Amino acid sequence: MPATKDSNFLKENNARSLWHPMAHPADMQAAPPIIVTRARGVRITDIDGHETVDAVGGLWNVNLGFSADPVKAAIAAQLERMPYYSIFRGTTNDAVIELAEELRDFFAPDGLSRAFFTSGGSDSVETALRLARQYHKIRGEAGRVKFLSLKKGYHGTHMGAASVNGNANFRTAYEPLLPGCSHIPAPCPYRNPFGESDPGRLAQLCLAALEDEIAFQGAGTIAAFIMEPILGAGGVIVPHESFMPGVREICDRHGILLISDEVITAFGRTGSWTGARHWGVRPDMMTTAKAITNGYFPFGAVMISDAVAEVFEGDTSGIGAIGHGYTYSGHPVGAAAALACLAETRRLDVAANAAARGEELFAGLQALAERHAVIGDVRGGHGLMCALELVADRDSKAPIDKATIGRVHEATYRAGAMIRVSGPNIILSPPLVVTSDDVRVILEALEAGFGAV
Ligand SMILES: Cc1ncc(COP(=O)(O)O)c(C=O)c1O
Repeated sequence: MPATKDSNFLKENNARSLWHPMAHPADMQAAPPIIVTRARGVRITDIDGHETVDAVGGLWNVNLGFSADPVKAAIAAQLERMPYYSIFRGTTNDAVIELAEELRDFFAPDGLSRAFFTSGGSDSVETALRLARQYHKIRGEAGRVKFLSLKKGYHGTHMGAASVNGNANFRTAYEPLLPGCSHIPAPCPYRNPFGESDPGRLAQLCLAALEDEIAFQGAGTIAAFIMEPILGAGGVIVPHESFMPGVREICDRHGILLISDEVITAFGRTGSWTGARHWGVRPDMMTTAKAITNGYFPFGAVMISDAVAEVFEGDTSGIGAIGHGYTYSGHPVGAAAALACLAETRRLDVAANAAARGEELFAGLQALAERHAVIGDVRGGHGLMCALELVADRDSKAPIDKATIGRVHEATYRAGAMIRVSGPNIILSPPLVVTSDDVRVILEALEAGFGAV
């Protein structure tokens, strides 16, 4: 049943009785959020009837747009046939069996063949971290319990995920976090502790820092390294092409598992079908969620390599039994949605469109930066994930104030595009089915937005 109250009621009670994620409750009450009531294609409409292109793509998840009818039909049909049954030991369901086989095929080029299902990205990260520790225990290396990750990385909000997150905003208020988590400088040419702006040289410095941290912690104490192939929420940080292969080589040399966190990048966003594949790397595990169901149903999957799977499946001691799982692991409605999504994702070849439209968007943003001094850095160039970092001053890179970036957001929205503001960054992650015309609308709206500075 859609909301039945009139718009006055909704506006009066906006943010009154609910707390919003990633926001100060008082801020939300002082400046209530936009009430979005309709969505079609790649456009959303607010309660006052104002329509915009959604340059956020829901939240990096609505890759096929809001009108993916086969996905909606699959959800409706599964709800009718069997709305839920658990896949805890002893029972399973038809949709999830079929989905696991489809995913095995989809992720074969990444060397990933088994799936563990979850209800979202943080769940997937938690699952991968736990399975990494268990993997080492089964192999008789119980001392490998620590995790390494990148500063500026984002991995979600469970205690495990927050502990490997690399941004203070998501950590400080919730400390103490998990012990044994260390962070390596991110390969971000615009801001890094080495003062190095050359991406290739910076990648080598960050890899050296990784080696240094492993030596410091002791390789035999480390379970896994987790990274996003392209850092998303941290502001679309694109590592040099040598970075992830370098991480893979170091992890292999030290017996450390590599978890590729692809909650954003799996299923085509980078212009390749996965971020790891984009860089020519085969991870030991891959965390996915978001676009797996186009955002229409909360769902996720951790994909597991043959080598890791064999350790679990070959265990005869009992320690390989998985003491982890969610009520909604393998939810049949989510599985049905994911099956339909995979079919649509392939049929529409969204990775190719992401690559082509991503080039147009990135070029347009670079042109924008030539006209607006408040844009300190333009990041992207790999599919449909781009960011603009705004600064008060280009030379000192002093951060922009909240009011200015708020004005850009508001004016861009009024001019026809919903964008996402995260700290000093404007993040763009439109659906992967956008057309060149949609990209033009986004760029023109941003031009108007920066005109309001
Ligand atoms: C790379 C990455 N990992 C994990 C998460 C957490 O996913 P969720 O918000 O579904 O829990 C996100 C969310 O944006 C993400 O971008």
